[in-house]
Amino acid sequence: MVLIALTYKKLVDRDFKILSVIEAEMPRYEYVPVDVIERRSRLPSTQVNAALQKLNQLKLVRRRLGDYVGYRLTYLGLDMLALRSLVERGVLHALGDTIGVGKESDVYSGLTPSGERVIVKFHRVGRTSFQRVVLVRPYLKDRPAYSWLYLAKLAGEREFKALQELHSVGARVPRPLGRSRHVVVTEYVEGVELYEYKDPIDPESMLVKVLETIRKAYLEVGIVHGDLSEYNIMVTIRGDEEEPLIIDWPQYVEKDHPSAPDLLRRDVSYVLRYFRKAYGVSIDLDRALAYVKGETETI
Ligand SMILES: Nc1ncnc2c1ncn2[C@@H]1O[C@H](COP(=O)(O)OP(=O)(O)OP(=O)(O)O)[C@@H](O)[C@H]1O
Ligand SMILES: [Mg+2]
Repeated sequence: MVLIALTYKKLVDRDFKILSVIEAEMPRYEYVPVDVIERRSRLPSTQVNAALQKLNQLKLVRRRLGDYVGYRLTYLGLDMLALRSLVERGVLHALGDTIGVGKESDVYSGLTPSGERVIVKFHRVGRTSFQRVVLVRPYLKDRPAYSWLYLAKLAGEREFKALQELHSVGARVPRPLGRSRHVVVTEYVEGVELYEYKDPIDPESMLVKVLETIRKAYLEVGIVHGDLSEYNIMVTIRGDEEEPLIIDWPQYVEKDHPSAPDLLRRDVSYVLRYFRKAYGVSIDLDRALAYVKGETETI
């Protein structure tokens, strides 16, 4: 079992209570003072201290020693609160294997209470430098340096919202199932990423489907993916057709954002380049761009 699931099983109600008090106070304190935790949790001091000791050992909180003793959540602590909420709402029943550990997320498989296999994506902002974060997430440029946990929650929120809107207009994306904080649960796509997909049946139709999704996102939802490539497209087979689904949306930008035109051009050109290189299918960039922007009705 993965560390997150093992740790989750060790927690009792009291531990979750303390974690959520710390979470609630974190916007006010870099490290939440112990007396504040005691007051807000309304638990006896001995119980609070025992719980904090345990949470600290499990690395769910970080302790600050010095002129006062205080605690803040770690990513693992925030993971516990998110899982608890997803479990209580019946979105998730169990966490399974690691699917991928990336720069900005940890992705696991999971099971719902009814046994459906799902994807559980934990956003991790701040593993790389803030510079890079600003580069790939231009919407953060004008904000003060919020804590990483806050930024991760924001990424989760953005990705879930994008998926909900995309799914509601029938775009080819994994079905979103639920979110808590920085954790997004979606349908599990049985398939492989496009860069691993070697012998396509009908690459031309597949390319058209990808462009249709980019177009729907742009025209019906009003967003540009912004990080599109063969690594963020999953291919699955439905009926006997190839269905390319676009994943990984937290960095999207609104179509009226100043970088939107450049990002749209880059997204489309990366997709066209890959289809040309890997499958020998060519579509002209300007024609494809006119189509995704709704200037023409067909490619
Ligand atoms: N719905 C899904 N079904 C199946 N596999 C998925 C799904 N979503 C993500 N994955 C797998 O997990 C990987 C990482 O997911 P995603 O692209 O959303 O995160 P990421 O932030 O790009 O992570 P990284 O930093 O590793 O690129 C995908 O490349 C894919 O292999
Ligand atoms: Mg990705």
